[in-house]
Amino acid sequence: MTGSTSIVIFGASGDLTNRKLIPALLNLYCKGRLPESTRIIGTARRPYSHEEFRDGLEESARRFMGEAFEPERWKAFREKIWYSPGSLKELDDFRKLDRLLVRLEGGPADRLYYLSVSPELYVDSIQNLARAEMNRSAGGWRRIVIEKPFGHDRESARALNEEVHAVFGEDQIYRIDHYLGKETAQNILFFRFANTIFEPVWNRRYVDHVQITVAETVDVGHRAGYYDQSGVVRDMFQNHLLQLLSLVAMEPPASFNADAVRNEKAKILSAIRPIRPQDTVRAQYAGYHTAEGVAPDSETPTYAALKLYIDNWRWQGVPFYLRSGKALAAKTSEISVRFQRPPHVMFNLPQDTEFLPNVLAMCIQPDEGLHLTFQAKVPDSTQAMQPVDMEFHYRSSFNGQPLPDAYERLLLDALNGDASLFARSDEIELAWKLVDPVLEGWQSAEAPPLASYAPGSWGPEAADAFMQADGRRWRMGCLTHDAEEPQGGAG
Ligand code: BG6
Repeated sequence: MTGSTSIVIFGASGDLTNRKLIPALLNLYCKGRLPESTRIIGTARRPYSHEEFRDGLEESARRFMGEAFEPERWKAFREKIWYSPGSLKELDDFRKLDRLLVRLEGGPADRLYYLSVSPELYVDSIQNLARAEMNRSAGGWRRIVIEKPFGHDRESARALNEEVHAVFGEDQIYRIDHYLGKETAQNILFFRFANTIFEPVWNRRYVDHVQITVAETVDVGHRAGYYDQSGVVRDMFQNHLLQLLSLVAMEPPASFNADAVRNEKAKILSAIRPIRPQDTVRAQYAGYHTAEGVAPDSETPTYAALKLYIDNWRWQGVPFYLRSGKALAAKTSEISVRFQRPPHVMFNLPQDTEFLPNVLAMCIQPDEGLHLTFQAKVPDSTQAMQPVDMEFHYRSSFNGQPLPDAYERLLLDALNGDASLFARSDEIELAWKLVDPVLEGWQSAEAPPLASYAPGSWGPEAADAFMQADGRRWRMGCLTHDAEEPQGGAG
């Protein structure tokens, strides 16, 4: 490290820069976590001056950060921001950008290139970085952060990996999945591997099944043009849900370094049995077609649910149910591990006793924490029992300290050269290998029909029926855990 760092944001006039990247960098700056001499250089086609660019960022930072925006700190921070207009297709614009960088750096410097551009422009950007020799390390490191979507199927992801590898080494490439930067997603590893009491039961002998839910209230909004081409599987399953699954299911790595962690994640992804079309549900919310940019006859699913199995010693026979959708009743991301019923219940329970097996729910958002549900004796009864919750909430356990945004963690890790929370090329390709056949299956005669669901609901009835067919139910989310319906009789 040279102590002098340039963060170059390609696509700097976009939503991500305003909403996430600048607020995250400002927070890191306020916490004193950015390297001593850091500058941020934005580039996009719009012909802003440095001052106009800074003013625009200030306005959006105030809007998105609310009370966390500190005007005094911003004053100093904005002086570190620069702008270079240009097109990602024009080599001359890259050369011009490089000249600005060299001038601002005034000597050897490290550089983080952040591609926050439309995916069709990834290859042009990467090739032009190479033609302008901006990938060469002139005395400092060079790294590139690439946003999702990384390809639209396995073939395109492999081709993109080849393009990037022609210019940067794998250790210089940071493929971002912001779910991995969420505190609670990282906590899955700490919960599993910094404790001893959970790991012995974390397997097919004790676990009945696992559910992963990522539900959103928002609809496709102004992103319909992109979304209609993508759909929920490419947008959420290939990346976020499969990443969460691999954290929950992976074997313990020997150390917490990028390769050890990613080796284990890749092993899990490669052990997942191909997903059958009949183990999937696809649905679209009513009214989706009215969004601008959606084809009138679009069959793009905005909701999907699926069941998969991991063919390894630990998880053989344990179903993992994954679901995600837009325009649902609540925003909640949760992983719940449902344990088996006790083999024998010795109590003489009243006939109508509801029996809820143990559930360990990891709430990724919004109420970040953990819930462990277990049976307790109802006071002043002889043998009645009732499920109760033991809860850990980040907010109360850590003095209400606000959790940092995922981008803060990920930007800092990329600056520090720690790729543990970024996806490696093989993980990306393995994830596509799993979802491609699902998408292809949906074009075939075996495809489940495209169901419809009301915006604001919990998804299509077909998804409930899908679980009921296995004698199970979807958990209703951490916020509404009390509403969970028990399974079967007293046993
Ligand atoms: C993005 C998807 O990757 O994740 C969006 O493209 C989705 O469609 C978003 O809304 C969800 O992220 P979060 O952090 O709000 O759960």
